[in-house]
Amino acid sequence: MSILVTGGAGYIGSHTVVELLNNNVEVIIIDDFSNSKPEVLEKIKQITKKDFKFYRMDYGNAEELKKVFEENPSIEGVMNFAGYKAVGESVQKPLEYYTNNISGTLTLLNTMKKYNVKKFVFSSSATVYGEENDIPYVETMKTGSTTNPYGTTKVFIERILQDLYKSDTTWNIAILRYFNPIGAHESGLIGEEPQGIPNNLMPYIVRVASGELKELSVFGNDYPTPDGTGVRDYLHVVDLAKGHVKALEKLNKDQQGLHIYNLGTGRGYSVLEIVHTFEKVTGKKVQYKIVDRREGDIAIAYADTKKSHEELGWIAEKNLEDMCKDSWNYIEKSQKK
Ligand code: UFG
Repeated sequence: MSILVTGGAGYIGSHTVVELLNNNVEVIIIDDFSNSKPEVLEKIKQITKKDFKFYRMDYGNAEELKKVFEENPSIEGVMNFAGYKAVGESVQKPLEYYTNNISGTLTLLNTMKKYNVKKFVFSSSATVYGEENDIPYVETMKTGSTTNPYGTTKVFIERILQDLYKSDTTWNIAILRYFNPIGAHESGLIGEEPQGIPNNLMPYIVRVASGELKELSVFGNDYPTPDGTGVRDYLHVVDLAKGHVKALEKLNKDQQGLHIYNLGTGRGYSVLEIVHTFEKVTGKKVQYKIVDRREGDIAIAYADTKKSHEELGWIAEKNLEDMCKDSWNYIEKSQKK
C-alpha cells in the first residue's frame, strides 16, 4: 500500500515525505519542480535511507495522472501539496492560481474516484478563517471572507471536499489548516527555499541575517498586541509533517469521514519576538525598520489546538528556539555548498 504525494519536493511536502518514510509508509512523489529543486529528492533519501518512486509531472495533467494510477495499483491514498501559495503573487496571477490549485485538485479527485482511491489529505490554511472570526480559531467557525485568490482557492477546495463527502460518504478526507510553518529538518539538508524576494517573515529574516538582504521591514507596530507588531502561530515544519502522519493514521482507523484540523501550537508570537529569539539563538544581528502595515494583514492569529490534540493525538513539540535554530542551520548549510 502506498501514498501518492503531490508536490513532494516542496517545503512542506518534502518534510512530510521524510516523516512518512520514517514511519514505514511507502511513498510515490509527483512534482514538476515549479517551486522546488530536483536535489531535494536525493536529500530525502539521504535523511531516511529509503527509496521511493518519482514522477516529474504537473499534478493537473489528467493523462499523466491516469498513468500513475494505472502503474501503481498500490496507491491507497493521496496527500496534496502541489498548490501555489504566495499571497501577493496570487493577486497578480489569479487565473494561474485558480487553475493550478482548483483545477489541479479537481483532476486529482476525479482520477482518484475513477480508481476508487478515496483517502485524501488536503493542505489548507488558517487563511480560511478570514478577517471576521475571533481568536483562537476553532474548526467549527464559519470560514471567513478571503482577501486574495490564494486564500479563496483554499476556501473553495474545502467546500468542494465537503460537497464531495456529502455525495458519497465512503470518502475519507482530512482537511489540515496550517498556521505559520517555519524551521527546517534538523539535518539542514531540506528546508524552505522561496524563489525571489521572500514574502514571509522567517525566510526574510534568514536572508537579512546572512547579509543577502539589507534589513527587514516590520509591517506595522501599532496593532493591539503587546509590542504593537503582528502576532502569529508559528510551528516547526517537522511538527507539521508529523501532523500529516497522525492524520493518515486517523483516516486508516476510521475508514470514512471528513475531518478538519488546525495544525498550530496554540500560541502566538509577535514579529519582534521572532526577531529577538532568532538573534539570541543564532548570535546573528537582524537589522529592521518599522514601516506601514501590510494590506490584508490582521493583528493576531492563532489556533485552538484541542481537536487535533484530542482526535489525532498530535501536539507541536518544538519551541521557537528550535524553529529559529533550524531555519538558520538550513541556510548556513546550503550556503557552504
Ligand atoms: N511580516 C513582517 N515583515 C515581513 C514579512 C512579514 O513584518 O517582511 C509580518 C506580517 O505582517 C505578519 C507576520 O510577519 O504579522 C507573519 O507574516 P507572514 O507573511 O510570514 O505570514 P502570514 O501570517 O501573513 O501568512 C501566512 C501564510 C499564508 C496564509 C496566512 C494566513 O504565509 O499562506 O498565513 O493563514 F494565508
